[in-house]
Amino acid sequence: MINKCLFPAAGYGTRFLPATKAVPKEMLPILNKPLLQYGVEEALSAGINNMAIVTGRGKRAIEDHFDNASELESQLRGTSKEHYLDDIKSVIEKSTFTYIRQTQMLGLGHAILTGETLIGEEPFAVILADDLCIDGDINLLSKMIKIYEKYQCSVIAIEEIPFTQTEKYGVISGDLIDGTNDTYRVTNMFEKPKSHDLIEFVEDRVNPNYASSFMAIAGRYILTPDIFDILKKIKPGKNGEIQITDALLFQANQGKVIAYKFKGKRFDCGSVEGYIKAINYFAKKQELLK
Ligand code: G1P
Repeated sequence: MINKCLFPAAGYGTRFLPATKAVPKEMLPILNKPLLQYGVEEALSAGINNMAIVTGRGKRAIEDHFDNASELESQLRGTSKEHYLDDIKSVIEKSTFTYIRQTQMLGLGHAILTGETLIGEEPFAVILADDLCIDGDINLLSKMIKIYEKYQCSVIAIEEIPFTQTEKYGVISGDLIDGTNDTYRVTNMFEKPKSHDLIEFVEDRVNPNYASSFMAIAGRYILTPDIFDILKKIKPGKNGEIQITDALLFQANQGKVIAYKFKGKRFDCGSVEGYIKAINYFAKKQELLK
């Protein structure tokens, strides 16, 4: 069982300045709902009620968002606007939120390690809220939990990306697991590699059972708790930061990382371009745009 979901939410949101100067990037709205709420709702619909959020300086709006707002509620009670709070109230009722602050920005791996005290000795999910993922009708995290239950090791979500974009993501290679067409046992991982450093993997692409270097890690993980000890031991990697990709490579070398290639959409809402695409997608879905 996966009971807890960790949300690293301490980053500065540099690509979104100046909007993120005083507003946490996780609180940027897609239509009328902040990114982090989409993540929490995804966790809830995957059966997880315990939300562990790693925050940092200037992120208090996150805690306020997932708390009751008695004054506002009493103002709206009995009016035609009362229903605007229904969704968030239901999220708050169903979830427990715990928080810890990351006091130094030493990378995603370090943010996850900061959450150890909220997670403890159990497998857990990680959602990077600025990666908005839609995997058909069933949510992505639910599918990953099923895969975890089968293989009992860490699980990552992957998607195909153009070769020119490898420097933006963690990139993996792996072997397709027999009897599946979307599930790989990971054999190698690289954090934001330059595409020309991956030429050898392009050649591997001729083998249809090989996940080529075109496979990028999306912001969804199921991690086994031994990841914390690995994170404590590894040296800083790309950009001098503690990288979750490097810790996962340690597990992958023991055959203990599975990658699930999801079929849906991923919006990189940490970039203005991805953010606009996400807004358009949801606006069309709700028929707000013609
Ligand atoms: C992080 C990970 C990277 C992954 C990406 C997904 O990078 O380090 O491996 O591909 O999330 O969004 P970040 O976006 O935090 O730079």
